[in-house]
Amino acid sequence: MPTPQTSCSLPKYLQDDGLTEECRDLITSLPTERGWVADHFFQYQGFWHHSRQLQGVLTCQNHFHAQDSDILLVTTPKSGTTWLKAITFALFNRWLYADDPQQHPLLTNNPHELVPFLELKLYVDNQVPDLTTLTSPRLFATHLPFVSLPTSVKDSACKLVYLCRNPKDTFVSLWHFTNKLRPAEKGTNSLEEVLDMFCRGVSLYGPFWDHVLGYWKASMELPEKVMFLKYEEMKEQPKVQVSRLAEFMGCPFSPEEEKEGVVDGILKLCSFDSLSNLEVNKSGKMSSGEEYKAFFRRGEVGDSVNLLTDEMTKRLDEITDEKLHGSALKF
Ligand code: A3P
Repeated sequence: MPTPQTSCSLPKYLQDDGLTEECRDLITSLPTERGWVADHFFQYQGFWHHSRQLQGVLTCQNHFHAQDSDILLVTTPKSGTTWLKAITFALFNRWLYADDPQQHPLLTNNPHELVPFLELKLYVDNQVPDLTTLTSPRLFATHLPFVSLPTSVKDSACKLVYLCRNPKDTFVSLWHFTNKLRPAEKGTNSLEEVLDMFCRGVSLYGPFWDHVLGYWKASMELPEKVMFLKYEEMKEQPKVQVSRLAEFMGCPFSPEEEKEGVVDGILKLCSFDSLSNLEVNKSGKMSSGEEYKAFFRRGEVGDSVNLLTDEMTKRLDEITDEKLHGSALKF
């Protein structure tokens, strides 16, 4: 007889034995669906989360206090979070390693370690870290939808940088990524089945379109607080977008820096080829078990054509047109 699998033998991101009573009570009242990685998704404040992630969301909402000088990087999963983390870290710290570039922390640390996620790292498993000792400006990341941000984020002058990516490439990247996270015995998810779920809004931090629109609207209403970026635009005009980003974060490039090619240096350091070929990113792992290499796949625009049928593409295009109608946002 095979031994039943206990939650202790599961990878950390699938375990739900560390939930607080508050979280367990809440879960019993929430709509549920089959998860892409863990068994269940729960819908909280309109968006879908795995249980361990939901615990992180609640703890973060209860305990995170934003400071006016904080910068929060917000993304939909698989829209280039790792890249954005690397670029913002390099931007903020560009004076520290100018004389000795070989000492740059990005050469020996994965960007997720340098810019931690709130709900997935700092507040995971109901931890409440003391972040008051960190030097300002503090740099954090999150996948939280706008509606679920801790109140202090909205009430303070902290800034949000939002990055999203066209839904077809996001979906394909998410399909590949979540298949890597699934335990081998569960096999890969059927593309048709998870596409159907994605289209119904049932995906990690989905509905995808609601997530994007929440920040799009916020960036229209509060442009000095919320900056809206697209992966495709970063790929097409990296220097323009990174200069915009530096300006928004309050550390614009000086004319001397422009002349010395500092922007090019940052883009090179943070490029897909450089980061994905570093030893740390080829062989390292997160404390929760995910391999860093899972965050680097192809890094291209338009890769969805290699997986989606014409019919699938048409379906996603139609939903996107319908959802974004009247918003002036286009992919
Ligand atoms: P693909 O799966 O399409 O290759 P996230 O960081 O939000 O998890 O997103 C992962 C996606 O960003 C993956 O897309 C990954 O390859 C791509 N990516 C990672 N690092 C990148 C970089 N430095 N430049 C461009 N894309 C990058």
